[in-house]
Amino acid sequence: MNIMVLASGGDAPGMNACLRAVVRTALSSKCQVLGSRFGYNGLLRDDILKLTHGSVSNIIQRGGSFLGAGRCKQLLTAEGLSQAADCLNRHGVEALIAIGGDGTFRGLRDLQDVWSGLTVGIPATVDNDATGSDFTIGFDTAVNTALEAIDRIRDTAESAERCFIVEVMGRGSGALAIAAALAGGAEEVCVPETPTNHQALADRIVVGKKAGRMSSIIIRAEGDEGAPTETLAHELQKVSGVEFRTCVLGHIQRGGAPTARDRILASRLGVAAVEAVLSGQGGVIMGEINGQLAQTSLSEVGVAQSAGLQDIRLVNLLSR
Ligand code: F6P
Repeated sequence: MNIMVLASGGDAPGMNACLRAVVRTALSSKCQVLGSRFGYNGLLRDDILKLTHGSVSNIIQRGGSFLGAGRCKQLLTAEGLSQAADCLNRHGVEALIAIGGDGTFRGLRDLQDVWSGLTVGIPATVDNDATGSDFTIGFDTAVNTALEAIDRIRDTAESAERCFIVEVMGRGSGALAIAAALAGGAEEVCVPETPTNHQALADRIVVGKKAGRMSSIIIRAEGDEGAPTETLAHELQKVSGVEFRTCVLGHIQRGGAPTARDRILASRLGVAAVEAVLSGQGGVIMGEINGQLAQTSLSEVGVAQSAGLQDIRLVNLLSR
């Protein structure tokens, strides 16, 4: 069988471990493996590599994607889709495995209308917002990266009697913010899925100050509604009389060596994706639900809005 693999969307730590698993599983079954560089863009530019056992040596521990990743606006057009299908046909591809998030899976779904090969998606994004898997590849690493920063900020916050707003990634998903807040013992967490009452937040800071708490950590997802983090900090400082500082973690959370958990998940899903296409299955994403491999139809997958939302209560309960 001729299998093509690509990593698409925002890169996530563990993508390399997944690419390694796909390539080596496929080669061990005597398949030919091709890689499209920079996600679907490689199909449109005909930027295709033949992958060997050696192509994926020494990458399991590296963040990013050795093939590149990235979004591809052209794939949203009929012309882009037909060019991508032409490229797959030209290279004799029979199965396409795409590693990424919601946009990546939409690309696979759309391709199915114009291309007859098998398609399998593998969820990888620091946002942990894909339905069809409890965890996405890269989420655990990003949480741990944010956590290390939060622990360091706590040291200086306590010493200087300051409050900090730490902004983490997540335009539409608060999963990373909630996990980092719970694990980091944060006093507050603000996420896009639930409205943030800034007045109530300020009131709690004032109550805390009266009770002798001079330093707090607020974790805020980048997609939380309202003013930018810096402006919010300014307002809260005015109301509470406590000094505020901000720290935007940004793309630091996307890089770095994947955790053991992400490498293991990536390896399991990479192997499972190849085994699926070898047995003739396509039109699915491979995920893990309750610790078991799970296949979900591409037509059913979407953005999960609620990963970890129930833990907001725990963040609040444990901080007061
Ligand atoms: O991959 C998901 C994500 O990291 C989001 O959390 C973030 O909002 C977005 O990508 C950033 O995208 P870009 O790297 O294109 O700025």
